Amino acid sequence: MENNKPIGIFDSGIGGTSIWSAIHQLLPNEKTIYLADSKNAPYGQKSKAEIVALSMKNTDFLLEMDCKLIVVACNTATTNAILELRAKYDVPFIGIEPAIKPAATNSRTQTIGILATKGTLNSELFNKTAEKYQDIKIIEQIGHGLVQLIENGEIDSVEMKQLLYSYLVPMIDANIDYLVLGCSHYPYLIPQIKKILPEHIKIIDSGEAVARQTQKVLENVGFSSKRNGEPVFYTNSNSKVLSEILGNQYKVLEKDF
Ligand code: DGL
Repeated sequence: MENNKPIGIFDSGIGGTSIWSAIHQLLPNEKTIYLADSKNAPYGQKSKAEIVALSMKNTDFLLEMDCKLIVVACNTATTNAILELRAKYDVPFIGIEPAIKPAATNSRTQTIGILATKGTLNSELFNKTAEKYQDIKIIEQIGHGLVQLIENGEIDSVEMKQLLYSYLVPMIDANIDYLVLGCSHYPYLIPQIKKILPEHIKIIDSGEAVARQTQKVLENVGFSSKRNGEPVFYTNSNSKVLSEILGNQYKVLEKDF
């Protein structure tokens, strides 16, 4: 089925571009509109009610742009608000959740680590999923401060290194063999994380799985028939860091939403 409307993608900030990138690679014909709600980042410290309200505000903006499908490129927003979004709007939503399943299923040490925001780790949805793996020891770690540093463009800072070291060393000591990145900002930290983790510990994030799920949902919603224009990025904060993380290749518009 043909449907040339855009795909809408939102996150609390620039991190969801890791998901956007996986979608854009798999589905290059699709036009994408990305919304970075950086003014309100981080979502991870906010209450469920606040996260639901912000997610609805972002959805309203994307629906005004006539999006055919919304990707919630934020674990915190998905785990706290996806049920409310699906109940309120008719448009299909794709969410992102920490990839516990592949880690738990393949772990040999029966011990996995999850780095995510407080909002994700405390959510009912996350805990329901984690409960399914009673035989696996799940070491949960809140990534305090990481999102703010990424939003400030301080990925390579000394502070980042120190924070990562303090979060990852206890997981290494606990003998994890998988590290799940449960926040869409964290794939940008993979080079730094690799410097700390021994080689046998595998790192997983959910980008490709979300892209494949998007492709699957488009089978019902409709694909673009041909290359459908350049991706558009909106931010309600300064566009500099978002532009940089995209390699200064795309149009980034500043808009108050
Ligand atoms: N990128 C987000 C996530 O996947 C949210 C980070 C935040 O705003 O705290 O959880």
